[in-house]
Amino acid sequence: MSIGGSVLIPDDDDHSYIMRLAALLREVSNDVDLLVICGGGRVARYYTNTGKKIGGTTHQLDLLGIGATRLNAELLRIALGDAAHDTVPLTVDEAVNAFSGGRIVVMGGTEPGHTTDAVAAMAAEAIGCRRIVNATSVDAVYSDDPKIDRNAKRYTHLTLGELSKIVYDEHGAGRSSVFDPLGVKLAMQNGNDILMVSGRDLAEVKNAILGKKIKGTTVTPG
Ligand code: UTP
Repeated sequence: MSIGGSVLIPDDDDHSYIMRLAALLREVSNDVDLLVICGGGRVARYYTNTGKKIGGTTHQLDLLGIGATRLNAELLRIALGDAAHDTVPLTVDEAVNAFSGGRIVVMGGTEPGHTTDAVAAMAAEAIGCRRIVNATSVDAVYSDDPKIDRNAKRYTHLTLGELSKIVYDEHGAGRSSVFDPLGVKLAMQNGNDILMVSGRDLAEVKNAILGKKIKGTTVTPG
C-alpha cells in the first residue's frame, strides 16, 4: 500500500486519523500481509521548496523528500505499536527481509530519483505481491485535475496502458502525477492491479486492501 503524505499529514485532525488507520491496518493484517509505504506530503514540500531556494541540487532535494517520507513512516509505526515491524526499512531488500517477519512493515522512500509510488511497485515485485493499494487525497483517477476542471471524467476502471497515457500527459504538464510514471511502468512489467482510493475514507481503504469492490478506480493489467 502506498499512502500519500497528503492523506497522513494534511493538518486535518491527523492524529485521530492515523490512530483509526492503524486500528484498521491491525485488523486487516489478520487476513493479509501488509507493506505500507508512506509519502512525504507537505513536510516534504516544505523541505524541498526551502532546499531549492538555498541552491540544493535535485539529488539533495530528493534526499530531503526521502527524510520526510521516513518521518511519516515512523509516525504510523508509533500508532501501530507492536503490530509493526520494529524499524523502518531503508531499502527494498530490507523491506523484503522485514516482510518475512510477519508484522506490518512501514517504510518511506529508498533512494533519489523517484517517489514512494515507485517504491511500492518495486517492493510489490520483490515480495511477489499482485495488489497495490494507492491511498491518495483524490477518490479516483480523473481525466484532469478535478480540483481545477469540474468537468473532468472520473474513471472506475482503467487498464495500466490507459493509466500510463494519463500519467505521462500529467507529467508533461508539470503536475504532481496521480501515480509515479515509473511506478506505472513497473506495474505493467509485474502485472499488478493498482487500486486508487481516497485515503481518508477508511471503509474504502479496507475494501481495497481486502480485494473487495471499491468506489475508486481499479487499474488492471493490459
Ligand atoms: P513522495 O512519494 O511523497 O512524492 O516523496 P510526491 O509525489 O511528491 O508526493 P505525493 O505522492 O503527491 O504525496 C516526496 C519526495 O521525496 C523524494 C522525491 O523528491 C519526492 O518528490 N523521494 C521519495 C525520492 O527521491 N525517492 C524515494 O524513494 C521517495
